[in-house]
Amino acid sequence: MKKRTFLIIVSITGIALAGIIFIQFYWIRNAVLLQEEQFNSRVTLALKGTVNQMYECKGDTCSEGLFCKSDCRRQDGIQASGINIDALKPMIQKEFSEVGLKGPYVYGIFTPGAVRAEYISKHGFEKQLLQSKHISSLSCIFKNDQKVLGAWFPDERSRAFGNIFWWLVLCFILLIVLVAGFIFNIYSFLRQKKISEMKSDFVNNITHEFKTPIATISLASEMLLNPSVLKSEDKARKYANIIYDENIRLKNQVEQVLQLTILDRGTYSLNLESLDLHQLITKITEGFQLLVNERNGSLRLQLDSVNHTVYADIMHIENIIANLLDNANKYSPAEPDITISTFSRNDHIVVAVEDKGIGISAKNQKHIFRKMYRVHTGNLHNVKGFGLGLFYVKSLIEAHNGFVYLHSEPGKGSRFEISLPLDHLGVISKNHKPDES
Ligand SMILES: Nc1ncnc2c1ncn2[C@@H]1O[C@H](COP(=O)(O)OP(=O)(O)OP(=O)(O)O)[C@@H](O)[C@H]1O
Ligand SMILES: [Mg+2]
Repeated sequence: MKKRTFLIIVSITGIALAGIIFIQFYWIRNAVLLQEEQFNSRVTLALKGTVNQMYECKGDTCSEGLFCKSDCRRQDGIQASGINIDALKPMIQKEFSEVGLKGPYVYGIFTPGAVRAEYISKHGFEKQLLQSKHISSLSCIFKNDQKVLGAWFPDERSRAFGNIFWWLVLCFILLIVLVAGFIFNIYSFLRQKKISEMKSDFVNNITHEFKTPIATISLASEMLLNPSVLKSEDKARKYANIIYDENIRLKNQVEQVLQLTILDRGTYSLNLESLDLHQLITKITEGFQLLVNERNGSLRLQLDSVNHTVYADIMHIENIIANLLDNANKYSPAEPDITISTFSRNDHIVVAVEDKGIGISAKNQKHIFRKMYRVHTGNLHNVKGFGLGLFYVKSLIEAHNGFVYLHSEPGKGSRFEISLPLDHLGVISKNHKPDES
């Protein structure tokens, strides 16, 4: 899919998703407002019903004895303007329960704007009651006063939400799933795209790398078939050598690609034995020194680890160190300045390969151990490779129960460290064999 098409699809889907979320929030808000309205109407209905009952009782016509004959005062000292509060309580409870209002509420009689209520059913909530919006006028009873019967609900908000709470939770969960799914899909698409780009780079690299030795071999064999060349033994030997060298190069490249399949499947086996890492490093660097010298560079050894015996597969460890040295050389555009050192750290021997080459940015450091990953910057394409070396290094070091560390700064250089468990007096070889697969 083209980048443009992808961006258009993602934008349309993103807008549609944002639209759905917006509509959901709109409906949720409306649902909450509706619940609040319904609640308000029920309270108003109950208060009006109570006032009606009070009105019907006026003149002492009803049995409850709502109005006191003389000025009745409650023991708490709050006077409810001649109303017998004990008779009001069952009246209000009946009306409230009829409209389904249960649970905690405070009611009272007061004049709007006053600083104190004339009567309140529960002390400590006077301020809230005086500010409550749930009131019903008592003007039909107290003609010249503006007294009201009011109620206040401490859990008013949760009552409005209560009925739709679980729907809201479900709605939020579904929205989160939808958004997470959307983000995950974009992420996996971009990842797949990156992998497919890496694969096509890899195939291009292989084709390019294979083409060179094949072309050289074909040219050299053509020359060998030439009767004038065949007559001279020196010339014939020269071309035969070229064919031989290029063939080995081709074989190594094929081997490298095959390693990828083997590593992928995990079908490699470790031929573990006790080996002296210092001896091995010295041997590898001898051959490598020539390469570095050719480029007027320097390769230093600083083998400080007191213990240097590990229980490992010599062939793989040799390849690992060679890969790191090869990278240190390849990614040093000027004269290579490479140091290979060892030291011990917590029962492990650490081999560090340090260069003063191009370095690796923090962003790329996260990816370079992935198979087929190569950094795409500057003139790096001139440096040949399949992006398999570090993948091989990490996989095999971990198979040996070891670790790989990297410290690098662009423009300053890189330091790759591999750490392997030391084989103290053959303890690992006897008791803690690394996983063999
Ligand atoms: N010492 C280093 N300095 C700077 N960049 C490095 C260094 N070592 C590795 N890299 C970066 O990490 C990438 C991956 O390295 P890796 O060794 O896996 O592959 P490669 O060298 O490109 O190819 P291969 O090793 O398969 O021939 C390289 O392409 C390079 O960009
Ligand atoms: Mg490499």
